[in-house]
Amino acid sequence: MEKQKIYSEEFVKFADKIKEFENPRIKQTQNNNDMEYKRNTYLEPKHIESSYNVNGLGKDLYDLVVEHKPLKIIDFGILYGYSTVCLAQAVQDNGFGEIVAYDLFEDYEYKNGVKEVVKHNLDFYNCSHLVKLEQQDFYKWLDNPTPFDLLHVDISNTGDILIDIKEKLGKFIDNGSIVVFEGGGQIRDEIEWMEKYEATKMFPLRETLNYKVLRNDYPTLSAFKNNKIK
Ligand SMILES: C[S@@+](CC[C@H](N)C(=O)[O-])C[C@H]1O[C@@H](n2cnc3c(N)ncnc32)[C@H](O)[C@@H]1O
Repeated sequence: MEKQKIYSEEFVKFADKIKEFENPRIKQTQNNNDMEYKRNTYLEPKHIESSYNVNGLGKDLYDLVVEHKPLKIIDFGILYGYSTVCLAQAVQDNGFGEIVAYDLFEDYEYKNGVKEVVKHNLDFYNCSHLVKLEQQDFYKWLDNPTPFDLLHVDISNTGDILIDIKEKLGKFIDNGSIVVFEGGGQIRDEIEWMEKYEATKMFPLRETLNYKVLRNDYPTLSAFKNNKIK
């Protein structure tokens, strides 16, 4: 007999949200051309819960990929797939490239990525064929990083994570790989959990670590400087 799957409360909540979004009456409000397999414009994945969709940061990620045309993209910290869908839409519009998206999924003790929801969201935006989803710990990967053209890091970032990135990926960055990350701005350093856990602030490190704040409003987006990010 097939073992019954037990879904977490979180999964059920989001699956319901997705079902609601897929209601044909609601779908009619979308521009159908945007949903075609070969998309050529960015479609804001508004229904995917993420701190990024508060002010449409996905478009910034999309634009970065369209501008720099990376072949190999790594997305660390997926949650329900917002950033991954935005990166994948750009890969689709570029016509080449691939994404490997990593998360700890259920091994993360706080609000974590849910693979089934991410798969569903990628399917919904016709992007599944462009993305490989894998369970991986960022710190383990950092000890033995695989080459990449663009890395996006969003794992509840703190200054300590940025210090590790710079130390372990400095050579990749100097050789032209782009590392873009959530946070880095002053407002982002002041959010509740940063204060609560006395996390190392990022903004005071921006000159030492040589990064540029791309978006200063919350949630912030920043990237390490090199020949591509000036
Ligand atoms: C803020 S959410 C990511 C949001 C996502 N990028 C988006 O666009 O909505 C942080 C994610 O990082 C994952 N995570 C936390 N620590 C991690 C680690 N050490 N390695 C891999 N993933 C991690 C969590 O499971 C969670 O899904």
